[in-house]
Amino acid sequence: MENKPQMKIPTHLAIILDGNGRWAKKRGLARTLGHKQGTETLKDICDVVFDMGVKYLSVYCFSTENWKREKKEVDFLFKLLPIYFSKFGYKFVERDTRAIFSGDISMLPKKAREACYDIVEKTKNCKSHILNFCFNYGSYDEITRAVKMIVDEVNEGKLNKDDITPDTITNH
Ligand code: FPP
Repeated sequence: MENKPQMKIPTHLAIILDGNGRWAKKRGLARTLGHKQGTETLKDICDVVFDMGVKYLSVYCFSTENWKREKKEVDFLFKLLPIYFSKFGYKFVERDTRAIFSGDISMLPKKAREACYDIVEKTKNCKSHILNFCFNYGSYDEITRAVKMIVDEVNEGKLNKDDITPDTITNH
């Protein structure tokens, strides 16, 4: 009998949360309900991928572009955040999963931000997995911050303008 190739499990998996609106539309529901269901699905995805042996999971939740969505929808999304962590927070500790955030969460509404800091604090000693929530991230934003750092270094005389290469951007 032919040997089946062993399935390779990635160490780090990244998912872009997408399709919540389409899921809801197909069922004649409000988009917001699609987002609510999306959080339930995310909880299930975490169970599946961590059981499979994935160590790190990054979830791209909300980009800088997403601020352009209707205010009603954005408000709903950020109200969901504390609800998600109070509902499923216990699972992080149960699964020894540390929560971290990538992107600039300082711009999130206060209650959402506090819920982020709270789950980070509660799970800071968890070691088996990392669940990386990406909020308020964007390539334009990252490039802008990199350019500012480079300009600072040039102004401080640590870097010569003529030595700036694409690698300089990458390294920042
Ligand atoms: C994409 O679906 C989904 C989003 C942009 C928002 C996802 C964010 C949350 C559910 C907030 C809470 C998150 C967590 C993890 C607690 P879409 O609206 O682009 O769907 P569509 O492409 O079908 O329109």
